[in-house]
Amino acid sequence: MLTETPLSNPLREGLLDGRRPQPFTLVIFGAAGDLAHRKLFPALYNLMLDHWLPTHFNIVGIARQPYTDEEFRREVKTSIKKFSRRPYGPEEFQLFADETHYITADFDDSKAYQQLKKLLTTMSKRQQIPSNYLFYMATPPSFYPVIARHLGEVGLNHDADENSWARVIVEKPFGRDLASAEDLNTDLHHVFEERQIFRIDHYLGKETVQNILVFRFANGIFEPLWNRQYIDHVQITVAESLGVEGRGSYYDNAGAIRDMVQNHMLQLMSLIAMEPPVAFDEDAVRDEKVKVLRAIRPFTTRDILDHTVHAQYESGFIDGTPVPGFLDEPDIASDSRTDTYVAMRLLIDNWRWAEVPFYLRTGKRLAKRATEIAIQFKTAPHRFFNQTATPELEPNVLTLKIQPDEGIALRFGAKVPGPMVRIRTVNMDFLYGTSFADAAPEAYERLLLDAMVGDSTLFTRKDEVEAAWTLVTSIMQGWARAKNPVATYESGTWGPREAEELIARDGFRWRRP
Ligand code: BG6
Repeated sequence: MLTETPLSNPLREGLLDGRRPQPFTLVIFGAAGDLAHRKLFPALYNLMLDHWLPTHFNIVGIARQPYTDEEFRREVKTSIKKFSRRPYGPEEFQLFADETHYITADFDDSKAYQQLKKLLTTMSKRQQIPSNYLFYMATPPSFYPVIARHLGEVGLNHDADENSWARVIVEKPFGRDLASAEDLNTDLHHVFEERQIFRIDHYLGKETVQNILVFRFANGIFEPLWNRQYIDHVQITVAESLGVEGRGSYYDNAGAIRDMVQNHMLQLMSLIAMEPPVAFDEDAVRDEKVKVLRAIRPFTTRDILDHTVHAQYESGFIDGTPVPGFLDEPDIASDSRTDTYVAMRLLIDNWRWAEVPFYLRTGKRLAKRATEIAIQFKTAPHRFFNQTATPELEPNVLTLKIQPDEGIALRFGAKVPGPMVRIRTVNMDFLYGTSFADAAPEAYERLLLDAMVGDSTLFTRKDEVEAAWTLVTSIMQGWARAKNPVATYESGTWGPREAEELIARDGFRWRRP
């Protein structure tokens, strides 16, 4: 087994130090699926290479595909070779896959859970390790309650003894509206306690997203400005150039509002808008985030039409290559009204943010991939430079660049050298790549590790998920009632004209990331 201490890495020091998990078994329901292959196996492998995993850890995959243990290990190897951040090495893989097992089963077959329990008990006894079990639901969401119920029936839902734990990670989508999310919460709570449930939102595992709190609350200079007195408005952009990428049947039932707004975007907004928590722990941080979600001004029917836009991509060009429109993608209904783009203007009714608009937009097949949060400050109160023929001064903008560029930029006016007072906007830039030597770990690495050590700060709590669905459900209902035409935009552009109009009504423009 690998015994060295974790590599020195300024991105991690202090964040994960002393957080090595106890021996555990990870049980992945849906182990033959895309998520397991692209994200989970590589994340675990990288955690092991970086020495974050304990000496004993086991992986059990469960899915319908008929694999033997050996075949499953080969699948895991393929996934690591293809998707791992760190390179595949035969000896390391041997170590990694040492205790990897597979159960071929339907998720509603109770015999499979008996078999699972037997396997888990045998491994814990043989290895003389505590019965620590992390169940990962990486299946279609309709199976989440089924799996939870069966785990409960065989008693795998409780901590086996006082030295052991049982936890469950639940993937998104967590429900498809408020009612179904509440039902799912009820079903899970029949079997697990809230402290055992880890609802994942992979955006919270991104280094640049975690840095939002560090930036705000570990520095003295920004927080005094972080309010309605100095901030004019906030723009949150999550732009993708990809289309639906073979996920047509899922996506046509979800749309951008469920796929991106309900989770990732409202999480970003909460982190930007929340009050300082009293501690960096799971209750304090999530208490403050949920307050933001609850303070978002509810939409009236009229507001939904005025302050939200939903649109679909048409054919166009991405990087010079022609791409089809959404309605011509596989598994999309020819008369689909599903949104691939959403823009909205939100207000937060509290002392800090009263009347400061938050503009959110996300879309597929946009001009480029870029996630950023731009905080635009109010202009200087007295502009005496105007008398020296200085053109309109631009406002200061602080941009938190989440991906693919990772960093923070502050835009401000500077004097152009010379005898005249001429002002030009310049940028002060922080780039992760130049300040830190090592590449950041993947979001799933951080989140899996947190679940292993039982820290749910970066996971979504029941009340948070329901507060986000309350807003999103009201918007979806408004669109359904209005039956207004879904706007369209050409692939490879920055979205529909209607979104430009939405923000222009307040006298602003969307930024070009
Ligand atoms: C997922 C969505 O949650 O996030 C996808 O289901 C989307 O549709 C993806 O492409 C974006 O994640 P990232 O990390 O690439 O920004």
